[in-house]
Amino acid sequence: MANNWNPASWQSHEARHLPVYGDSAALAEAEATLSNYPPLVFAGEARALKADLAEVASGRGFLLQGGDCAESFAEFHPNTIRDTFRVLLQMAVVLTFASKQPVVKVGRMAGQFAKPRSSPTETQGAVTLPSYLGDNVNGIEFDAATRANDPQRMVRAYSQAAATLNLLRAFAGGGYANLRQVHRWTLDFMGRSPWADKFRDIADRIGESLDFMQACGIDAETMPQLQRTSFYTSHEALLLPYEQALTRQDSLTGEWYDCSAHMVWIGDRTRFPGSAHVEFCRGIGNPIGIKCGPSLAPDDLSRLLDTLNPAREPGRITLISRFGDDKVEAGLPPLVRAVAREGHPVVWSCDPMHGNVIKAESGFKTRPFDRILREVKGFFAVHRAEGSHAGGIHIEMTGQDVTECVGGAVAIRDEALGDRYHTHCDPRLNAAQSLELAFLLAEMLNLEKNERTADAA
Ligand code: PEP
Ligand code: CO
Repeated sequence: MANNWNPASWQSHEARHLPVYGDSAALAEAEATLSNYPPLVFAGEARALKADLAEVASGRGFLLQGGDCAESFAEFHPNTIRDTFRVLLQMAVVLTFASKQPVVKVGRMAGQFAKPRSSPTETQGAVTLPSYLGDNVNGIEFDAATRANDPQRMVRAYSQAAATLNLLRAFAGGGYANLRQVHRWTLDFMGRSPWADKFRDIADRIGESLDFMQACGIDAETMPQLQRTSFYTSHEALLLPYEQALTRQDSLTGEWYDCSAHMVWIGDRTRFPGSAHVEFCRGIGNPIGIKCGPSLAPDDLSRLLDTLNPAREPGRITLISRFGDDKVEAGLPPLVRAVAREGHPVVWSCDPMHGNVIKAESGFKTRPFDRILREVKGFFAVHRAEGSHAGGIHIEMTGQDVTECVGGAVAIRDEALGDRYHTHCDPRLNAAQSLELAFLLAEMLNLEKNERTADAA
């Protein structure tokens, strides 16, 4: 267990991007409420995820992490949860088939509310108000009352997270994840995709494998495992009063876990030396993600890893690189080398979203699909050259048919961004773009797998 740590020790460190609550009694009340609520996840589940990620760290698996940039109270609906979950399952099947390795599925769901913002205020016309910080802090409408920080929003976010997790658990364990059904949805998508020809080969081979298994007597009826899957949750551990209130001591091991999600990560803007967010994450037993952008020096990364994973426990740390398509090939290798030199076992995952935001002529923030793909390709190229495992992908996506990222097979154009631009923060891949990305990733994973097989021969 971490030395000189307790769930509140972050409070004596420098905390950036935390809301200031005017009414400290109201904050204390919300924290007390949450402290008495049941944990959302059980420590044993966080350990199971860590074990899965340890496999990925040693080159035997792939991490698929995805969901909203920011969950919102307004978009809270069973269909939204179902559709995002379904697309993640479809992606996972394609990636499992291509890599011939288990895919660890982690949603940016059931707790991903709080957002770090580039400016603390927003100005519209002559009016300046506090920025929107996520639905668990304040509201997105541009008026003074809604933009005021309200600690009771944490309690509402907890309830939404609990209901979301409940539905995810039901889907994952109750038959919705049936492999044959997931493949049927993918065939349905293929029927509509202009890029179907590119993807036909993989989809046909998945179908043939399922037919073959069925002929051998292996199907969802004889093998209930084929109807179930494991699915984990994650979010950025940004709003520390919320995270602290849900941090509990595991009765089995005596270790502390942040029971708001299985995995939490530290954002690119809160991983600086001396950070309260790093201090908080240091003492919890969960798997921890760290966003790694162009401003992270290799030595600082080594120090962060020593702080967060002194025992060099595999599965504890996932490094999520987010450089931008034009920076990844120069920026990532020094980090990969530093980590290898220090002997830190990590999962390397690629977030091709946060370094590729542009402002479209229409005024909307967007991410071109081409750039997203280029960053993923760059990420794979770097790991191939360095001899490390390209272990995962971290994306902002939704199962809905939104128009937020330009490009993809249906080629969403700048002029169309306004049609269905619903995100509460950054632009997300829609359902079709997410699956397209999975198929394109499959080609890269296939290549890696072939190299592995050649090396072993
Ligand atoms: C995010 O993942 O939504 C985010 C803010 O990313 P980053 O910390 O990498 O900028
Ligand atoms: Co984002």
